[in-house]
Amino acid sequence: MMPFALPGHPHIHYADNQLHVEGCHLDALASQYGTPLFVYSRASMLHALAAYQRGLKGRNAQICYAMKANPSLAILQVFAQAGCGFDIVSGGELTRVLTAGGVASSIVFSGVGKTRKEMREALLAGIGCFNVESEAEIDVLNTVALETGKIAPISIRVNPDVDPQTHPYISTGLKGNKFGITHQRALATYLHAASLPGLRIVGIDCHIGSQITQVAPYLDALERVLDLVTAIESAGIPIEHLDFGGGLGIHYKDETPPGADMLWHKLLERLDARGFGQRKLLLEPGRSLVGNAGVCVTEVLFMKPGEQKNFCIVDAAMNDLPRPALYQAFHTIVPLQQDKQAGPDAAVYDIVGPVCESGDWLGRERQLTLQAGDRLAVLSAGAYCMSMSSNYNSRPRCAEILVDGNHAHLIRTRDTISDQMYGEHLL
Ligand code: LLP
Repeated sequence: MMPFALPGHPHIHYADNQLHVEGCHLDALASQYGTPLFVYSRASMLHALAAYQRGLKGRNAQICYAMKANPSLAILQVFAQAGCGFDIVSGGELTRVLTAGGVASSIVFSGVGKTRKEMREALLAGIGCFNVESEAEIDVLNTVALETGKIAPISIRVNPDVDPQTHPYISTGLKGNKFGITHQRALATYLHAASLPGLRIVGIDCHIGSQITQVAPYLDALERVLDLVTAIESAGIPIEHLDFGGGLGIHYKDETPPGADMLWHKLLERLDARGFGQRKLLLEPGRSLVGNAGVCVTEVLFMKPGEQKNFCIVDAAMNDLPRPALYQAFHTIVPLQQDKQAGPDAAVYDIVGPVCESGDWLGRERQLTLQAGDRLAVLSAGAYCMSMSSNYNSRPRCAEILVDGNHAHLIRTRDTISDQMYGEHLL
């Protein structure tokens, strides 16, 4: 059988009838570490990062990996070593980044609900910027900064009111969303922030949504943000950096998102045309750096043909891979053995997990020629899978492997039941 790479997944391929991540054989990893198992490709992450670096070559740009997509320490370490900053949304994420070798001054802190404790920790760590999201947050941050004896560097997240044309749960830049400060109130908010002694204005930011597959919403947001920068600077407040957030989509099924280099080529054309091309630029990509670098390997427990529907019950579930249950998201699912790929006359199955909920499905209406004991890979599982996983049904959180060429590093051990019960007390 001919070796071939899976579309959109340059470091995942079949060779000798077996699915590999880089030089590692997934079936062998599953036998060694058990299933369900997350396996990531380091080369794939660096390949995704390189597209951004190409697009921004020669510019004053800082890529801040939005670590909510996948916060495993070893993954943070890969990006820290590659020179990335980080976009964080909690004190927990701050500690993770610092533990993994991230540089505090390259951290931006996003999120609508930062606590005073988190603000204090981030001020003491010396992070690069607080991306503030409301007038109330500005006042509290000013107070905490003065109490801590620090000046908080801030950027205001503006809500440009553009439609990113993505799933409603992951669009954030529309008027009806809880995020950011409206375009109309932005200038007044900047003037207020500039009057507070505990704050130093360093930037402006926006983030319009996630899994965006077109350039147009980015261009619309860019124009609106630049209009605001012009107004804010005319009012005497200099803006050092422009942060365009994250959001670039990946290939799950048949999406054709622009490459990061192409997207930035287009955005820089507009930035140059409007005279902002030499300004410091920040980006907060998450999914597009890690999404297609990861797979989740799962084993078929039972085939359950039925009168109305056939079910293929696997050992991974919604607690491991919550995206289908949460967003009706599509993830391609392929067998580890190439010769188990279904022919056109194969039966149609819903691939479901063991969790006691009808919403616990990983894929619907997939053609399969499988039997119990066969193994499957759920693709595009590098982003927002492990990071949103839980112990629901007292299921252990998965082990994670980072592949680097022919080496497989265990970067997280599967939970034990004692890990799960840690901190609990009988009466
Ligand atoms: N910056 C901010 C302020 C964000 O809120 C997010 C994502 C990002 C950057 C990174 O966006 P990305 O490049 O990954 O699209 N759980 C959902 C996605 C939620 C995204 C939340 N914010 C999913 O599984 O599709």
